[in-house]
Amino acid sequence: MVLQEASLELKGDLVSEITRLKLERNAIILAHNYQRPEVQDIADFVGDSLGLARTAAAADADVIIFCGVHFMAETSSILSPEKKVLIPDLNAGCSLADTITAEELRRWKKRHPGVVVVSYVNTTADVKAESDYCCTSTNAVKVVNSIPADKEVLLVPDIYLGAYVERMTGRRMHLWPGQCHVHAKLTPEAITRLRDERPNAEFLIHPECGCITNAMYYLGEGKISGKGTHILSTDGMLKCARNSTSTEFIVATETGILHQLTKQNPGKQFFPAKDDAVCEYMKMITLQKVHYSLRDMIHEVKVPAAIAGKARLALERMVSVN
Ligand code: 13P
Ligand code: SF4
Repeated sequence: MVLQEASLELKGDLVSEITRLKLERNAIILAHNYQRPEVQDIADFVGDSLGLARTAAAADADVIIFCGVHFMAETSSILSPEKKVLIPDLNAGCSLADTITAEELRRWKKRHPGVVVVSYVNTTADVKAESDYCCTSTNAVKVVNSIPADKEVLLVPDIYLGAYVERMTGRRMHLWPGQCHVHAKLTPEAITRLRDERPNAEFLIHPECGCITNAMYYLGEGKISGKGTHILSTDGMLKCARNSTSTEFIVATETGILHQLTKQNPGKQFFPAKDDAVCEYMKMITLQKVHYSLRDMIHEVKVPAAIAGKARLALERMVSVN
């Protein structure tokens, strides 16, 4: 009991110190929807990849404390070169972004001259610099639809998002065989069991999920009910839950999203498709590290100008497609 009170006091002190430093530095704190609840709660803006990129670019701040993973902080730095972008832990990487290097992409492009490369935002700046367009889970379908139909397209690196975009656009593309280790674990078996237990629940799926191709296949086979099934980005899930009259939802993505879902929807219930769908990279950011980051102005994420210039073109196309 005494220990619990002491740690609450400590957390309160940390939050006031973060708030004081934020004002002193003219800083803004941005957090992804998968961040720890206490980190989301101190952020000025919580959102998905697209929302974070747009907010970082528009923010009237000198410093951005980016509570998310490294490629997201890189994106903000490329779009806002005049701002200092800091990530509280440099080890916060992404298993999906690690599935492709710029050198691999260059070699692939050599074998397919004239191909249009669309890279998911979960890629390094080096890979973005080799791409024609970037996209996020929110606008991937729109980005691909904006490319003339006679062009050959390669979508990197997420094979599940790629399969989803192929299905939605009706267009055959080359797909890179990458996947995220968290979303790949979300299997149709677990989902079928949960859906059987909660037949009235709506089903929210992130397009990175291993169950997406399975879900599309199973939908086709009639094995997972198509009723109340929504394939959405993390912000799309939040909007869907807010606007729905349903009171139960099964959520197939990283479990950090449950914090915003429950906060924004008192009276509604959310069930994770898998309790251990946890991204350890996202969880590397803690309140304590946010404090050190603001106090010591660490760790700056800066992309070399030549790479940033090329990547910016692909990113600006992404941000401008609604
Ligand atoms: P969103 O853009 O939907 O938030 O997804 C980002 C991500 O990394 C999912 O794993
Ligand atoms: Fe990357 Fe997967 Fe973590 Fe998203 S959940 S940041 S794709 S490792």
